[in-house]
Amino acid sequence: MVSPGNVSRRTFSAGMAALGAAGALGRPAVAQGAALKVGLMLPFSGTYAALGDSIATAFELYLAEKGGKLGGRGVQVIRLDDESDPSKAVQNVNRLLSRDKADVLVGTVHSGVVMAMVQASRERGVPLIIPNAGNVAATRDLCAPTVFRTSFTNWQPAYGMGRALAAQGVKRAAWVSWDYAAGNEAAEGFRDGLKSGGAELVKTLLLPFPETNFQPILAQLAGLDIEAAGAFFAGGGAVQFVRDYASAGLAARIPLSGSGFLTEGTLRAQGAAAEGVRTALHYGDGLDNARNAAFRAAFKDRAKREADVYAVQGYDAGQLLAAGLEATKGDVDADKVLVAAMEKARIDSPRGAFTLSQSHNPVQNIYLREAKGGENVVIGVAAPLLADPGTGCKMAAT
Ligand code: PHB
Repeated sequence: MVSPGNVSRRTFSAGMAALGAAGALGRPAVAQGAALKVGLMLPFSGTYAALGDSIATAFELYLAEKGGKLGGRGVQVIRLDDESDPSKAVQNVNRLLSRDKADVLVGTVHSGVVMAMVQASRERGVPLIIPNAGNVAATRDLCAPTVFRTSFTNWQPAYGMGRALAAQGVKRAAWVSWDYAAGNEAAEGFRDGLKSGGAELVKTLLLPFPETNFQPILAQLAGLDIEAAGAFFAGGGAVQFVRDYASAGLAARIPLSGSGFLTEGTLRAQGAAAEGVRTALHYGDGLDNARNAAFRAAFKDRAKREADVYAVQGYDAGQLLAAGLEATKGDVDADKVLVAAMEKARIDSPRGAFTLSQSHNPVQNIYLREAKGGENVVIGVAAPLLADPGTGCKMAAT
């Protein structure tokens, strides 16, 4: 099947050459009427299990709303539990691509695991939509025509939080998180945000992912000369951290804040301990737009629980894929047309409409929220229409 014409395509930039070759090597043809296979690689177990479930449920909700078809083509979803385990990531991606013959990858939550997906997308030209993992490299140094994100970079929400604290007059703050890309990159965002308002990040305290023995870190925090603490934790770990922070009696003296994941999808389990915690994120429960109201009702109907930011990002991954496939009438191998349509899509998201930056990352409002009575209530905009700097992204022309 590989004609000399196809071979010569390999002289193009790495991403596009792989894209062309992958098409030439015979993914199921649209003309044959085969369903498009979407490999949904997410954590369905472990501390991020609830996050994976929200993303998958909302992605499938969008598909159901479209009658199971995107761009006129039937879509088959293949779920794979990546356990948020970076050591199994390469093998898991290969399973989806080689065994299951996925045409498109959607995933994942964990910043370490997503690197294997980015690598596969770059090398094999398979389109990738990241519905959570904020690893900055995916849309900075390792950006590629086929790599898209509907979520955030780890830098974005934390930058908003740092900026909001500085605007409130905080001068000295500390950051607490798991010691991996998500926590460390968020610390940089927090530092940059504080700095933009003349404040300082004086200490970063870390523990290994997904450990939840927070007592040593809380004891260290108590001894610092700071006016605020910011944190990155999510899922089950966030539930426990917020509870332990309240039990340690720190909340009154050192107000807790963070990237919004700290209180996202967790408020019921955190109960009174979360009350008053301020966070920054590209979403809030009560955002007043028609899309949000309809989405929250439909998600609640399907999942029997409230939507959260993860659900929004999964739903928008469906919308972004639809924008690409509508332009190609369901043909995932029509590389340039697919990429161009996704690049210029304006996604009508429950978070508010957004577009993508040149490096394929959402440009979006970062809201300031306060946890009140079981909701993340939006109380302001911490950073309007914030784009990640995208440093080091040299996108090959499409
Ligand atoms: C990440 O690993 O990038 C990550 C995980 C969970 C979140 C946010 C970011 O809630």
